[in-house]
Amino acid sequence: MNNVVKLVLESLSPEERGFYKGKRVLVVGGAGFIGSWLSEALHALEASVTCLDNMSTGSYRNLENLLGKERFELIEADITRAEIGKGYDVAFHGAAMPAPDMYMERPIEAMLPDSLGLLRVLESVEGRVVFMSSSEVYGDAEVIPTPESYHGKVDPLGPRSPYEESKRFGEALAMAFYRQRGKDVRIARIFNTYGPRLDPGSPYARVVTRFIERALAGKPLEVHGDGLQTRSFTFVSDTVGALLKLGACDNCAGEAFNIGSEEEVTILELAALVLELTGSSSPIVHVPPRQGDPRRRRPDTSKARERLGWKPRVSLGEGLMMTIEWYRGRGRG
Ligand SMILES: NC(=O)c1ccc[n+]([C@@H]2O[C@H](COP(=O)([O-])OP(=O)(O)OC[C@H]3O[C@@H](n4cnc5c(N)ncnc54)[C@H](O)[C@@H]3O)[C@@H](O)[C@H]2O)c1
Repeated sequence: MNNVVKLVLESLSPEERGFYKGKRVLVVGGAGFIGSWLSEALHALEASVTCLDNMSTGSYRNLENLLGKERFELIEADITRAEIGKGYDVAFHGAAMPAPDMYMERPIEAMLPDSLGLLRVLESVEGRVVFMSSSEVYGDAEVIPTPESYHGKVDPLGPRSPYEESKRFGEALAMAFYRQRGKDVRIARIFNTYGPRLDPGSPYARVVTRFIERALAGKPLEVHGDGLQTRSFTFVSDTVGALLKLGACDNCAGEAFNIGSEEEVTILELAALVLELTGSSSPIVHVPPRQGDPRRRRPDTSKARERLGWKPRVSLGEGLMMTIEWYRGRGRG
């Protein structure tokens, strides 16, 4: 069994593992980075898994361990227009455009999956819905570590707003269905997640991928601004484990949970760590800051710890090593 899936399964209790057995589960955005690992873990838990994906950033390669297997189906469709069949026990909605360079270039398309797309999921799926929201709902947070009760500091006119505001709208829409129709919804506020399959070779690659690919190629690592802005990088097995715990939770309807590492690092520290772990002598160079880039990002995860029995299990050093090994191996097919 794959290392990431193994780590996910080890993080679940016997009850959580048993919850998914025989269930019909829809993963919207299932050919993407987090969605494909989630689908693989669900399949290993003996669920029947349907991935719905328009393959805009998702790939068949991400699904190579699932395509052609029993209890797995891929529907290629756009969630903003797709017909969704009945009978799903659980749906995870993770279709979005999370890479900053991409959503700043195509802000209109970026706003649709978590608004129109999520609406279709909430209207069609009979079972519970787990919405993959983001730490971006907090914007440039003034409370660090940030608890779920913090309401955010977001500029609706700023360049990050297509992503931030569509996540905020998605949360509000999910809560509207919960209050007006009694829909069982749960919200995961995911912090920066990285690991194998994170946008390889993409011109819009996110920071961990960019640093690893450039370090391995001996090219300069570009740091926006002074590099003292922080993030809390979470290894993908920890994020997927939390999503599965949230989906299996008995009394979590109508609530949001922070999912992220509390190991806060500056972007400069991340760059230095990637250089050390790859053994690269690439230089670090500074490029202009990104407009609206949040200064600090660190979750308060006490709610997920207490209510879901979840905690991050993979350190940044270990997770980066697994990711670097995957990028090295990918070149050899
Ligand atoms: N990776 C992170 O650091 C992070 C952090 C916070 C939140 N999230 C959220 O987690 C989810 C998964 O993110 P990811 O990092 O795996 O990104 P990703 O780009 O790898 O995955 C998104 C998937 O959604 C698909 N998709 C996009 N628009 C679609 C549409 N209209 N219809 C159907 N499919 C569509 C893409 O093809 C892709 O497979 C997203 O909702 C994202 O906002 C991710």
